[in-house]
Amino acid sequence: MKQQDHAKRAAGEQAASWVQNGMRIGLGTGSTVAYALEALGRRVREEGLSFSGVPTSIATEEIARRLALPLVALAEAGRLDMAIDGADEIDPHWRLIKGGGGAHTREKIVAEQAARFIVLVDESKVVQRLGAAFPVPVEVAPFAAAPVMEALRRLGASPALRTDETGAPVCTDQAFYILDASFEGGIEDPEALGPAIKNIPGVLDHGIFAGYTTDVLVGGEDGSVRTLKQSIL
Ligand code: A5P
Repeated sequence: MKQQDHAKRAAGEQAASWVQNGMRIGLGTGSTVAYALEALGRRVREEGLSFSGVPTSIATEEIARRLALPLVALAEAGRLDMAIDGADEIDPHWRLIKGGGGAHTREKIVAEQAARFIVLVDESKVVQRLGAAFPVPVEVAPFAAAPVMEALRRLGASPALRTDETGAPVCTDQAFYILDASFEGGIEDPEALGPAIKNIPGVLDHGIFAGYTTDVLVGGEDGSVRTLKQSIL
């Protein structure tokens, strides 16, 4: 196991330990959350833990079904006690870039329904300024990809269509495309940029998450977990 995976596992297992009987839980997407899902699977088997999970992607739903985690549709779940999710970057104000796995649209919908949004990261994802090292994923209707790229350029971005190893566009769970919008030097004002991107016709959603995070667990390579404190805005 790589050092970074030890850190991801530590954060994932800690988050899973916070789940209590009867809770409704949003289940995020990605390699860090996968460790939380495994730990939840163990708790279901060994302790008889009972909860209802709302998966944020087809990939997470498949893992959860393999682990026999109890699932429920978002429409039936209503308000969630908490959602557990990873992130690609987190800044001192707990704003995030997500969507490295292309699941940010459903992740944001689920985050919006959750009383607590628990973000799991390793140290490499804790940054001073969002976007300096990671582009903003933007989910777009395939028909709109070209004009959305133009509009993103007008917002100062260098957008690139996300493709797979064969060169074909990556398709999301909504059968949309992903544009990865790079901002040289990072993003000055994530709260302003997010709505500006969302306002472009053809955009379903983007990977800037501002105002959702309530708890941050930073996994360490030695298996420790540190809880981040939010800086004063
Ligand atoms: C999925 O689209 C993303 O938002 C993930 O939550 C994010 O990319 C973190 O993934 P890892 O835990 O695999 O790094």
